[in-house]
Amino acid sequence: MEIRALNPGFVGEVSGIDITQPLTPAQAAAIEAGMDQYAVLIFHGQPFTDEQQKAFSLNFGSLEDTTGGNVTKASEKRLGAFMADVSNLGPDHKPLARDDRKRLFNLGNQLWHSDSSFRATPAKYSLLSGRITVDQGGQTQFCDMRAAYDALDAATKAEIENLICEHSLIYSRGTLGFTDLSEAERAMFKPVRQRLVRVHPVTGRKSLYLSSHAGTIIGWPVPEARAFLRDLLEHATQKQFFHAHSWQQYDLVMWDNRSTVHRVTRFDDTKVRDMRRTTIAGESMTVAQLAA
Ligand code: OGA
Ligand code: MN
Repeated sequence: MEIRALNPGFVGEVSGIDITQPLTPAQAAAIEAGMDQYAVLIFHGQPFTDEQQKAFSLNFGSLEDTTGGNVTKASEKRLGAFMADVSNLGPDHKPLARDDRKRLFNLGNQLWHSDSSFRATPAKYSLLSGRITVDQGGQTQFCDMRAAYDALDAATKAEIENLICEHSLIYSRGTLGFTDLSEAERAMFKPVRQRLVRVHPVTGRKSLYLSSHAGTIIGWPVPEARAFLRDLLEHATQKQFFHAHSWQQYDLVMWDNRSTVHRVTRFDDTKVRDMRRTTIAGESMTVAQLAA
């Protein structure tokens, strides 16, 4: 297995390994070490079934349950409970209508975010498999929140060191004007607390924990908090921290949600884009609080 660094250095392109088949412990450890060094790894030509994707994912921890992360009723799910359906498809495998509520909710993925930052214990890795990809738009873009943190001036680092934000799907969807949530959904999306600066458990590196789900800073007036979070995000998404992935069918892209943000770019939603994500559960909260 080899890893080649892509610009600007936090994304590695992996070759020489078939990850659809069971890994040896040494292979799994090499991939995990690559994740700690880079934060995003790209594998090409990996035609996964859902079960194979699950088996590969389990090398890195336990799978996060997808409940509480969307507005799709269990009876309308296209994929198994352990897979986040990041496609633009309904249960009939056809593109959702333009005004379909699930589609409008999923458009939130076009905002910079870290997966499951709206959960009290947020995600470790995400593994996204491109089963049917589009070639116009539909890129997944990433930014390195470790490098973005390192580049802040000392006064800003001191100011943010102990700040706590509240994150919720209510905030990210609200930014796009998606506010029609039921009482049950509002309760399910109750805000959770996250540190604004977090420390990676393996490398000890600090990173900015930004996400479109962040809507308040504890103790701050809301408009001031949101304006500041926007400034930080603008800083953190400059091109020296940025990489765009253009998908080929059967790419598997794996990222560390503890040290990156990502978003999908707009594409022609009448075309099929079948993307399936497994998510590795995080091991700890960034702030002590009750679990959901
Ligand atoms: C995700 C996500 C981006 C994409 O899978 O978490 O945000 O490219 N997807 O679909
Ligand atoms: Mn995401």
